Amino acid sequence: MDIAIVGSGYVGLVTGACLAHIGHTVVCVDNNAEKIRQLKAGHVPIYEPGLEELLEKYRKNSRLTFSTSIAEAAKKASVIFIAVGTPSKKNGEADLVYIENVAREVARNMDSYKLLVEKSTVPAQTGDRIARTVRLNLPSSSGKDKKGAVEFDVASNPEFLREGSAISDFMQPDRIVIGVESKRAERLLREIYKPIKTKIVVTNVATAEMIKHASNSFLATKISFINSVAQICERVGADVGKVAEGMGYDRRIGRSFLNAGIGYGGSCFPKDVDAFIRLAEKNGYDFSILKSVRQVNEEQKQSFIRLIEDKLWILKDKTVAVWGLAFKPDTDDMRRAASLDVIEALQAEGALIQAYDPQAMDNAAKMLRNVKFCPDPYAAARGADCLLLLTEWTEFSGLDMAKVRELMRQAVIFDGRNFLDEKSVGDLGFEYYGIGGRRNA
Ligand code: UGA
Repeated sequence: MDIAIVGSGYVGLVTGACLAHIGHTVVCVDNNAEKIRQLKAGHVPIYEPGLEELLEKYRKNSRLTFSTSIAEAAKKASVIFIAVGTPSKKNGEADLVYIENVAREVARNMDSYKLLVEKSTVPAQTGDRIARTVRLNLPSSSGKDKKGAVEFDVASNPEFLREGSAISDFMQPDRIVIGVESKRAERLLREIYKPIKTKIVVTNVATAEMIKHASNSFLATKISFINSVAQICERVGADVGKVAEGMGYDRRIGRSFLNAGIGYGGSCFPKDVDAFIRLAEKNGYDFSILKSVRQVNEEQKQSFIRLIEDKLWILKDKTVAVWGLAFKPDTDDMRRAASLDVIEALQAEGALIQAYDPQAMDNAAKMLRNVKFCPDPYAAARGADCLLLLTEWTEFSGLDMAKVRELMRQAVIFDGRNFLDEKSVGDLGFEYYGIGGRRNA
């Protein structure tokens, strides 16, 4: 099938590469001419495991092309996925200006049936808005559906891709959600996903939009729940990791997304929780559970910062080593990363930061000031008064911690992800502070 993906960010590029991989002809569109130029030259602007290889393979055999022109792409493709950004406005609401632009542009260039598919995370009822925008901008109609006007459908097909494992999430999903208002749209989307064997949930558009809201918000709720449990664990001498394990064997609960830490970050959960709260508010409902989820997430970072301030005593001119900056491992993404808040709070007290991250240092350098970025984890530890582990990159589990101990001025670890083994670092003489009762001092 001929498919256009408008928006060549994380979601758009992964979707484009994977749709090409399962046999479709895809054009990825973006209005950033420099990005498209780089993609055409084989340069991938983001780090996502496996993405570069797929893009390279299908770019070379021309099953995947890149363009800055929505008009051109919309003319050729019968299905247009909308994967543009939906940033937060000041009040938490999603800003849909890019979505509207795409709908308008596609409509103005439509000369045959098109299926427009929402891929970006959007508030419920955006499907209706897109349909209305298309109707108002169709060249052959004066704003109304009438015989002879070009036909179209709008569908919702939310993505459930995690950064860092987006390709395998696409190829082996737990489910595919298709929100449609016509049989034709359902048939087309089923056809597109035919090579992927999984459960397909077919709903109307508003329900599919709600599935996405509810899924991300529920996952964020799991994280804030376990982080609250961690707070009590700390106070009563329990171990939150074991609590999560004990809960997780219950199939009704499940072990995943019960890792206590310094809170969730990234481009999705913080924004999506805000947007869901706002959507509820607009519809006259106070989504108080989600407000607490957001508050707990914020407090989690603050209590980690307070712990460091307490144990380090004077922060002025102390050197703090930071391992991990990205909002999670296997990505170079720094958006809403907890490391930003932690580092800025310590710098405000006069601490000197030397940091290492396997992929995110270039992006971090654009967002942080006065940080010494180091070529490897050992260099970051050299001369440090304490070490913060803020992202659980696998690389940090295989290091020579005796050597790290030697390099540091004071052997103190604050593990914001409960990633290191408190016993083995304790045996090497480290004071260790994790989250939720994991500590040896
Ligand atoms: C999330 C969802 O997991 C995807 O299903 C969804 O498609 C995506 O948002 C989206 O809406 O686009 P992502 O933000 O890439 O994916 O990353 P996650 O793996 O969900 O992690 C989010 C944050 O939660 C990270 O900061 C991570 O460190 C934190 N987290 C996750 C925890 O603190 N504890 C956990 O147990 C799990």
